[in-house]
Amino acid sequence: MTLIAHITDLHLRPRGLPCYRVSDTNMLAERAMAALRALQPRPDAVVITGDLTDRSDPREYAVARNLLARLDLPVFIVPGNHDSTDDMRREMDAFLGPVNANTGKICYSTDIGDIRLVALDTHMPGKPTGEIGKDQLLWLQKELSAHPKPTLIALHHPPALSGIAHMDAIGLIDAPALAEVIQPHAHVERLLCGHLHRPIISGFAGKIMTLAPSTCHQVVLDLTENGPAHFNFEPAAFFLHRYTQETGTVTHTAYVESYPGPYDFFSDPGVTWPGDDAT
Ligand SMILES: [Fe+2]
Ligand SMILES: [Fe+2]
Repeated sequence: MTLIAHITDLHLRPRGLPCYRVSDTNMLAERAMAALRALQPRPDAVVITGDLTDRSDPREYAVARNLLARLDLPVFIVPGNHDSTDDMRREMDAFLGPVNANTGKICYSTDIGDIRLVALDTHMPGKPTGEIGKDQLLWLQKELSAHPKPTLIALHHPPALSGIAHMDAIGLIDAPALAEVIQPHAHVERLLCGHLHRPIISGFAGKIMTLAPSTCHQVVLDLTENGPAHFNFEPAAFFLHRYTQETGTVTHTAYVESYPGPYDFFSDPGVTWPGDDAT
């Protein structure tokens, strides 16, 4: 069994500064790390699908290094639109798999138990949209052909539209080219994305795409045509992708905070159900 925790969009800030005035992203990330550390069984690795920082500020990367070092788990990251490829390569080297130097992007692959993780960089300097680019797509094509084992592809910008208009407007601009590359590869189990700050599941190129919620603020669920770009504090959560040969990849949602329970499934007095002990 291989278990991969998938967290995203931490939007870390310099120590003591909130994000957008009201989101204490560093504290919320600390809470998420505590939830990850408490997991049983322990995940084999943690994958972070971008927007690790809010402004790609060196002080934010320092906060990130400190947080992630204390996890005591292998961590793999990709940049989001709020990070930067160059800054992340310089500041977060220890959390990048072997980076393919030919593409100029942070793209790498690594084995995690029975799973192959392929990480793609969609950062576009100075823009909120994402792009994989021809060089990286070429690398991906070779990578998928060379390693026909169950594969998760991690990238920040989801390639499929969500129906949340202001987020779709800053999506992945070369999604059709990505679809062409991955569609023929039956061993691609899942795409792991962030950026939307909501738990969303959809299809893309015949694969399942899972968008993890943020560890901090969430994007308001608004499916109207011109809904405003608003966030709220719906419960922070992350995904646990559990892979076995028998089941393939099964994705669970894990909440950062605790809720009432657990409780036993006691029946009402005198009522029995199939499977209850009638004595
Ligand atoms: Fe984000
Ligand atoms: Fe983003």
